[in-house]
Amino acid sequence: MGKINRFYDAFHPDHYDLFIDVNRENKQITGTSTITGEALNREVNVHQKFMSISKVTQDGEAVPFEVDEKAEAIKITLAKAGNTTISIDYSAPLTDTMMGIYPSYYQLNGKKEEIIGTQFETTFARQAFPCIDEPEAKATFSLALKFDEKPGEIALANMPETKVENGVHYFEKTVKMSTYLVAFAFGDLQSKMTETKSGVKVGVFATKAHKAKELDFALDIAKRAIEFYEDFYQTPYPLPHSWQLALPDFSAGAMENWGLVTYREAYLLLDPDNTPLDMKKLVATVITHELAHQWFGDLVTMKWWDNLWLNESFANMMEYLSLDHLEPSWNVWEMFQSSEAPAALTRDATDGVQSVYVEVKDPAEIDTLFDGAIVYAKGSRMLVMVRALLGDKALQKGLKYYFDHHKFGNTTGDDLWNALSTATDLNIAEIMHSWLNQPGYPVVNAFVEDGHLKLTQKQFFVGEGEDKGRIWQIPLNANFDSPAIMTEKELDLGDYETLRKQAGHALRINVGNTTHCVVKYDETLMNDILAEVEDLDSISKLQLLQDLRLLSEGRESSYAEVVPLLDKLKDSKSNLVNNAIYTTARKLRQFVTPDSDAENYLKQFYNRLSEDQVKRLGWEVKAGESDEDKLTRPYVLSASLYGGNIDSVRAAHKLYQEHEDDLESLNADVRPYVLINEVKNCGSSELTDKLIKLYQTTSDASFKSDLTAAITSSKSESELEKVVSYFKNADVVKPQDLRGWFASVLNNKLGEQLAWDWIRDEWAWLDKTVGGDMEFTTFITVIARNFKTAKRLEEFKAFFEPKLDQPMLTREIKMDTKVIATRVDLVEAEKVKVNATIKNLFI
Ligand code: BES
Ligand code: ZN
Repeated sequence: MGKINRFYDAFHPDHYDLFIDVNRENKQITGTSTITGEALNREVNVHQKFMSISKVTQDGEAVPFEVDEKAEAIKITLAKAGNTTISIDYSAPLTDTMMGIYPSYYQLNGKKEEIIGTQFETTFARQAFPCIDEPEAKATFSLALKFDEKPGEIALANMPETKVENGVHYFEKTVKMSTYLVAFAFGDLQSKMTETKSGVKVGVFATKAHKAKELDFALDIAKRAIEFYEDFYQTPYPLPHSWQLALPDFSAGAMENWGLVTYREAYLLLDPDNTPLDMKKLVATVITHELAHQWFGDLVTMKWWDNLWLNESFANMMEYLSLDHLEPSWNVWEMFQSSEAPAALTRDATDGVQSVYVEVKDPAEIDTLFDGAIVYAKGSRMLVMVRALLGDKALQKGLKYYFDHHKFGNTTGDDLWNALSTATDLNIAEIMHSWLNQPGYPVVNAFVEDGHLKLTQKQFFVGEGEDKGRIWQIPLNANFDSPAIMTEKELDLGDYETLRKQAGHALRINVGNTTHCVVKYDETLMNDILAEVEDLDSISKLQLLQDLRLLSEGRESSYAEVVPLLDKLKDSKSNLVNNAIYTTARKLRQFVTPDSDAENYLKQFYNRLSEDQVKRLGWEVKAGESDEDKLTRPYVLSASLYGGNIDSVRAAHKLYQEHEDDLESLNADVRPYVLINEVKNCGSSELTDKLIKLYQTTSDASFKSDLTAAITSSKSESELEKVVSYFKNADVVKPQDLRGWFASVLNNKLGEQLAWDWIRDEWAWLDKTVGGDMEFTTFITVIARNFKTAKRLEEFKAFFEPKLDQPMLTREIKMDTKVIATRVDLVEAEKVKVNATIKNLFI
């Protein structure tokens, strides 16, 4: 195993004086990066990518250098080692890659405009200025920024602007920080400002294409989030301001640059008067996530990218923890159960998945680290587990220790465990190593044998998997007398009848679903639970359905068993339970072929599930209704449309007609279903064109997403062809939104072939356009989520197997091949039984 050559080993930067001149007109960046620091060696390397280097000096004297493109390096031979100042003159192209310094485009009053922003994580600072571009190489930065400035434009950066002189904007020196967190932006922006109790200036910035009120929600959440974190972390926010900036073109979701957090517009701005509650919650979690990073990630940073999880898993837990304090009535931990938990459990069950902690042997591997379901979802579940073991008081105490000891520095996972161990007697490091360093998770079998209640653990797989005898330390969270943690392969909990009598209710483990495992109960235990199912809380009901679904995918149980449970829970008033019902019901669609007899029965089943709920809730949102009802409505409306419920179709069409001239004004809770219904049942070429036009002109992200859903649900192949023809036209579908459009067309039975043909034909273009994106591989994931026939499996292999030698793609192709193959087998083995069970409900 070759150790990576870290540039930090030879040079420790202390301070950067940056002069950067961005010319939008000529698409050119020129600048000087002056780095003061300590050279430990006469031979030093400084990162650069795509640059021309015209001159390198040491303490004012020119020194020899060489550019090594492959190593993304400027190799410099210094006259002497020791404390010194290296100055590098460079130029670089300004490109539309959404990496480094890049333009974002938007329409204002029918004219195409642009603003400039930056994205430096993971390793793109080196495209903006020469630097030691490694998280450990922390330094201070003084930025001087020049650009082809127009009247009214403003410039933003990590720190406040101090002066503008001869067209150059100067910013205050930063605190010690990593290069990937440096950021700046400029253009014609609007803003709203406020201040925290402790005097931190908080601002939200956006282009002027947005209504001013779209900035209000983010401003309120950001302010209160910073106040919460200062209190929870017992560590002040160390910068004078916290700007939140929405960029029209953005490859990730959001980015925690210190003091200048950047966001996709859809994840920051919203119309406070007409946005669905779940969208508001989502935007709020994005903001609380990035602001959690201002401490965890920015103030204390992972030493190297192998500990990326330390940043991301933690922020992903804190986003819920903080929002739960800010908006307790939103029950965001329920949202954690319906989004992070299933994402992690599903992905982590496929053999070949990565572990949360991943060794990075080669810098090229940094970009393959990013697996949202693992580094974010599973990682945050791990920390939720830690929180459940420690409790908030101890967690806070441990974190305070962590920040006090490591602020402005770098850490590994063990530094966190050591800090937490100052607040608990549990051996957190040992427990967590079993979860973070091993891929996968256990299925716990719970059964009664010889009168005793016993537990065993083994790795859970969906699809073929090699059992390597892995063992996890499993927090049991039982609702009866049992040890706190299962450390062995098998556990005998003693006499079942006695335990049952003592408990006074059905015995369950993993109550609260905080442990990352699935539980398979034997018939005795399961029947006992099912007899009480109606008394369970929402999370337990969701968990029951989620575990049954996973066990069915893993062929440890049958989907047919899920059907009666759905039927039993269908009138639940809990949004969470309804989410679980319809997520599970959606899975039943894989067993039917379009327009078959079986599909007709499935549609009837959807109708049966949703009918009374649709009657209860209706298509019109009522004043004063509960959040649960608001959040439930979309599930049942969507189900009743799939079910072909004629009353629903009529109600939706009527709403469409009433709002024909101002579709955006439709209530956002029902808007997507009204539009989908219209396209499906009254579609025409004119309607597609009208909706596309609205998509291009509206500034409201949730309306845009409704329009995407509607336009791509067309029942006309020629309309879908038209839609696909827009995929390469960035004036209609921005590259950042392409995956959503592609997935939606692929998901439409009439569009599947079109989308599949398109991506195979246009792969080279796609690779060139968004190939550098960390989430590029999710284009493959999206395909695998859809395919379920042997024919598609063969086509998938034929297309992707030749790409197996591309390191960025290898793991994803292997995993997704398995995902599709597993589904093909599942459908073949289960369809008769599942479809018969559904049909039997009606005869
Ligand atoms: N730091 C990440 C963004 C990132 C990660 C950029 C890795 C490049 C490489 C940021 O904090 C983040 O996690 N963003 C999420 C959204 C978030 C709310 C879950 C994203 O972009 O998906
Ligand atoms: Zn993050």
